[in-house]
Amino acid sequence: MNDKTIEAKNHNTAVRSNSTAVMVAREIMKSYAGRPVLRGVSLEVFAGERLALTGASGSGKSTLLNCLGGVDRPDSGSIRFKNVAMETLDADGLTELRRREIGTIFQFFHLLPTLNVAENVELPLQLNGVPAAERDRRVLSLLERVGVHGRAEAYPGQLSGGEMQRVAIARALAHKPAVLLADEPTGNLDSRNGAIILELLREISDETGTALVLVTHSVAAAQICHRELSLCDGQIGGGGVKD
Ligand SMILES: Nc1ncnc2c1ncn2[C@@H]1O[C@H](COP(=O)(O)OP(=O)(O)O)[C@@H](O)[C@H]1O
Ligand SMILES: [Mg+2]
Repeated sequence: MNDKTIEAKNHNTAVRSNSTAVMVAREIMKSYAGRPVLRGVSLEVFAGERLALTGASGSGKSTLLNCLGGVDRPDSGSIRFKNVAMETLDADGLTELRRREIGTIFQFFHLLPTLNVAENVELPLQLNGVPAAERDRRVLSLLERVGVHGRAEAYPGQLSGGEMQRVAIARALAHKPAVLLADEPTGNLDSRNGAIILELLREISDETGTALVLVTHSVAAAQICHRELSLCDGQIGGGGVKD
């Protein structure tokens, strides 16, 4: 066990003893066209922890993340976000929960091509009704934090992959979510840029206390996490605190 792993494990123990779970999923089932993808998945996400979700391609990682993020619904089972049972929310309620509490980043960035960098990051704040002066201040500080403040006026098509992912991270954090869901966020980056993005995610989750659920194929990515859960045959296989 290296120093970083010990540090992560100690941190994780502290996180788990000091906080209740911010999300609790119980017995999630989800099928597509009669074919089961998730077959009774249960997990907790603790405030401030980094949780890696691994598994073979097609094992249902994105499906699970989409259920946790409220963009898809399980066929059965329950997901509690803080004190809210997500299955009791209608579509508007889920949208509102996402807008206030959940940040998402993707492999292919999903920035809006017709908005510049600053406008992409500002959008979630506008949707939340944050006043203009506060929006400007937050956007500036986020762009500085992720290291792209020099590109505020640039459009996504003018950025490198690494820069686009920095902007996507700033956008995902703009509304100060309790949980950041990341679906293979280094999957479209070279190893150097992937390492930079992972370090940024690690630092930012420590600084902000945002829990991170990181879907990844990459061993390096899983290593920045306190815990790893693996999906296999529609269920959570191995896992627990890393040692
Ligand atoms: N919207 C959908 N409609 C039909 N099948 C889907 C849909 N989304 C995912 N699947 C299927 O569910 C399985 C799990 O997909 P996914 O969650 O994307 O896996 P992973 O992210 O682990 O690669 C795959 O077999 C995939 O083809
Ligand atoms: Mg996927």
